Amino acid sequence: MRILKGKTILEDFNFDKIINNYDSVIVDIGTGNGRFTYKNAKSNPNNFYIGIDPVAENMTEFSSKSIKKPAKGGITNALYVIAAAEDLPCQLDNKADNIYINLPWGSLLEGVVKGNSVILNNVVKIAKPPKADVEIWFTYNNLHEAGEMSRRELPNLSVEYIKSNLIPIYQSCGIDIVETDIVTNEDLKKFDTQWSKRLGFGRARDVFRIKAVIKK
Ligand SMILES: C[S@@+](CC[C@H](N)C(=O)[O-])C[C@H]1O[C@@H](n2cnc3c(N)ncnc32)[C@H](O)[C@@H]1O
Repeated sequence: MRILKGKTILEDFNFDKIINNYDSVIVDIGTGNGRFTYKNAKSNPNNFYIGIDPVAENMTEFSSKSIKKPAKGGITNALYVIAAAEDLPCQLDNKADNIYINLPWGSLLEGVVKGNSVILNNVVKIAKPPKADVEIWFTYNNLHEAGEMSRRELPNLSVEYIKSNLIPIYQSCGIDIVETDIVTNEDLKKFDTQWSKRLGFGRARDVFRIKAVIKK
């Protein structure tokens, strides 16, 4: 497993020993700058937070913050892992009580909205038995992301599309979608990721949220 500590990449890590001391493990796939992981880890010291992103440079800001001395904002209950959703390290198997995918782009976004089985199976793989909760927030539209939609052949998003297309695909991989809604700009601002803030303070747009359960 490749870990980012500040700006340094470590190849090996005794992960099991560390997380045993915590109530829950929360994984944020496509964490970007790692703000969500860091902020939640700071407010919930009994839980362990793992931010995952394939682009190490994206995570250096909050990875660097997390390794400072506690008086300067350092925390011990967060870890930044360099990996793509398509290729998650096996050390994470059966570890996550909660899994978030917040405002993805690129292949992660495409995987989420088309129900890519490699990504969905990896989400199931890291879920902790007997039950893990999943939350996914995503958005794009013809007005702002027409290029990406055409390049990746992304469908037009709607609650109807999620209900009739994604629920059965997710279910076939072992992920039961229990709630689908559209969040407001206020919800985005409160959610407190780098991109939720960016989008929350911008023009109103439809941001879809899926809540799901994995039972193993
Ligand atoms: C728009 S940013 C969102 C970052 C963060 N979740 C937030 O809400 O601020 C999308 C992130 O998804 C990551 N990403 C793209 N493809 C990915 C993949 N296949 N697996 C994991 N992360 C991916 C990108 O590197 C980027 O950091």
